Amino acid sequence: MAEQNKQPLIDLVSAKGIAEMDAWLAKYPKKGKRSAVMGGLMMAQLENNNHLTPELMDAVADYIGIPHMAAYEVATFYSMYNLEPVGKYVINVCTNISCSLRGSDEVLAHLKDRLGIEPGETTDDKQFTIKSVECLGACAGAPMFEVDRVYHENLDKEKINSIIDRLASPAN
Ligand code: FES
Repeated sequence: MAEQNKQPLIDLVSAKGIAEMDAWLAKYPKKGKRSAVMGGLMMAQLENNNHLTPELMDAVADYIGIPHMAAYEVATFYSMYNLEPVGKYVINVCTNISCSLRGSDEVLAHLKDRLGIEPGETTDDKQFTIKSVECLGACAGAPMFEVDRVYHENLDKEKINSIIDRLASPAN
């Protein structure tokens, strides 16, 4: 990544975000400080309408003192990081083996019908994004998806509709 015109993290996130970054750094010994990158990237993402930009990833890496590539490797490996703008709610549908055997295709098909978008897309009203992701560690509850850090398991059409209705309600 280009090293020019970069802005420091302190100019890109709030004071609360910097405090959170410092708290992540304090959790690890000096030689393990690169482990703070996951928490730092999540903080930066949440401060930026739920998505990361190259500028933010560079700034997090610089703040920690690691190569930019180390932040990119983490951000591109884990599905919880969004590398482009997403909707208010990101529906992470697990399509790994247990969920696949128990109907994740039907879950995705129903979401596509209901929301009118494909995985990787966002609804026109910017409310929902669908993502197809790897195992989220809730295989016993397959098929499942995660939205807003809440796991929804043993999904069927009725459950999916009720979750979407609730999230789409003006009260949310
Ligand atoms: S395979 Fe879906 S949660 Fe593990």
